[in-house]
Amino acid sequence: MSAEKTYPVPEQTAANALLNREQYEQMYRRSLEDPENFWAEQADAFLSWFKRWDKVQNNDLAKGQIRWFEGGKLNVSYNCLDRHLDTHGDRHAIIWEADEPGTTRHITYRELHEAVCRLANVLKDRGVGKGDRVSIYMPMIPEAVVAMLACTRIGAVHSIVFGGFSPHALRDRIEDADCRTVITADEGLRSGKPVPLKENVEKAIDGLDSVHTVVTVKHTGNDVTWHPERDVWYHEATAAASAECACEEMDAEDPLFILYTSGSTGKPKGVLHTTGGYLLQASMTFKYVFDYHDGEVYWCTADVGWVTGHSYIVYGPLSNGATSLVFEGVPTYPDAGRFWQVIDDHQVNIFYTAPTAIRSLMGQGEDLVKKYSRSSLRILGTVGEPINPEAWEWYYRVVGDERCRIVDTWWQTETGAIMISALPGAVDLKPGSATLPFFGVEPQLVDNDGNVLEGATEGNLCINRAWPSMMRTIYGDHERFMNTYLTTYKGKYFTGDGARRDEDGYYWITGRVDDVLNVSGHRMGTAEIESALVLHESVAEAAVVGYPHDVKGQGIYCYVTLVNGVEPSDDLQAELAGLVRKEIGPIAKPDVIQWAPGLPKTRSGKIMRRILRKVATNELDSLGDTSTLADPSVVDELISNRANR
Ligand code: WTA
Repeated sequence: MSAEKTYPVPEQTAANALLNREQYEQMYRRSLEDPENFWAEQADAFLSWFKRWDKVQNNDLAKGQIRWFEGGKLNVSYNCLDRHLDTHGDRHAIIWEADEPGTTRHITYRELHEAVCRLANVLKDRGVGKGDRVSIYMPMIPEAVVAMLACTRIGAVHSIVFGGFSPHALRDRIEDADCRTVITADEGLRSGKPVPLKENVEKAIDGLDSVHTVVTVKHTGNDVTWHPERDVWYHEATAAASAECACEEMDAEDPLFILYTSGSTGKPKGVLHTTGGYLLQASMTFKYVFDYHDGEVYWCTADVGWVTGHSYIVYGPLSNGATSLVFEGVPTYPDAGRFWQVIDDHQVNIFYTAPTAIRSLMGQGEDLVKKYSRSSLRILGTVGEPINPEAWEWYYRVVGDERCRIVDTWWQTETGAIMISALPGAVDLKPGSATLPFFGVEPQLVDNDGNVLEGATEGNLCINRAWPSMMRTIYGDHERFMNTYLTTYKGKYFTGDGARRDEDGYYWITGRVDDVLNVSGHRMGTAEIESALVLHESVAEAAVVGYPHDVKGQGIYCYVTLVNGVEPSDDLQAELAGLVRKEIGPIAKPDVIQWAPGLPKTRSGKIMRRILRKVATNELDSLGDTSTLADPSVVDELISNRANR
């Protein structure tokens, strides 16, 4: 073991865990050396198939061909619901904790199954069928889970749009995937404040006649605009529908869902996942990474609008028959003790959250944590961004009372499921490291020329072979899929992340190496924010970079060049911030807008972001070579403008 601080697996933990070190190593080796048999056994063990597959895998990354379990037939909602009914139909599938403390709902597998069948029938009545895309724009209420599973039951492809996205962003996503049905709620609630979801849908689909159905859940009960020919109340329609609905038999490679995510260029990409491989890896990682023991209560604080919500609130837990807590609120309402209150109230055993949340609660002191017992907790997880060792230690010592294992899970929307993570009973922990690869995952570090680097080193993180839950394409744009992920380093999937590997083979994710920001664990493309800024008539040009932010991980730093004759002002700054918010959503609101009379460009006109990042971070001593700039004096101006900001 290296000199870094490590937390070895306690003997008792190894003895009680599903997998110990030896088992992990043996299974990992086999997953790479004998993938056909390894994955066939796992697919039999974890999933119920209507018909077994013809071929375990048929992959060629260089050609962009990824196929798992071809010819196999299954249904996701069957795997998440029906097959559990005989054994634990009365177990809670969902425990719902509302935004307002004290309001909860408990939904058994039997009840969830019935709700899903009813909504599936409503969708079928409205003409939705296999392969049709359905947009879901919902708050964190149980009906969001019902909506997802109802789609899978009839073979419709869901495309969830986070409820914090603007009408504009929603419209883009509805149009891109040609969704003709939208499922939403009258309003969401966050920290007691309503979020106008139905109204946003109205704005998003204004003039978009292809949308024939909007199903709306009555949540807050406030008035909403209504179009009787198009709009359907969830409660009315499901009450009138049958509680039985047969599952559509889907091919393992039939599309399951589309989820939009940001890249370094252009519009968000519709990441497409398919049925069999996705469900298998979501299910398997859930069980092994969280060491899930039958009957435990598990809570992931993500939103179903992000991939973490898909895989680890819904598909992973429910396919394992687990109890999944769905939380509508935020960590700081009514106060910063909310997480710990929920953990005590519902006796949560496994808790999965983002470093940003940990850092923000850390700032509030220990008293609010200590006020609650948290004695039910066994496993803690983090996801979405690198966790700094300081936050890790706080999570371990204060939240987990030095009793709980921490799993730092690295993965992406594109990977569908966890790729690099500790397993509680198998892997010694090092704060800040995601540790070791999951079964079947073959990480590689490569230099910028594509040379594979061996041993303890640092480089661009690639995955050298396909894995079951890998994205299959970008919806409607396979060429972009190839160019973004598979052609930079031929034959490998390029993650866009940098990483270091230490002498124990542990991976330390260092962050994005492309122009993608990670703000509070939310991915955002700098290009998207720039496009929003230049929509303003006074803006000639904009360049956006990230800078280190104590709580959010990264903050959004915008350089804006105004058109000739327009004077900078505080009002204009506020207008621009408002514009980004309106175009994308509140999560993309700039932290800093700096006026830039000129941007540093090469003679060929390429913006040198390296310099912009250095100025944003105030690392003025290490600007590097500026002599290749078309106009080096631009940099001095940026620096003096920074000081006068
Ligand atoms: C980052 C979220 C460090 C990474 C599941 C990745 C992480 C991006 C970790 C994907 C982690 C995710 N440690 N960085 N444990 N997990 N990331 O698509 O930069 O929203 O590329 O998926 O988040 O974000 P996405």
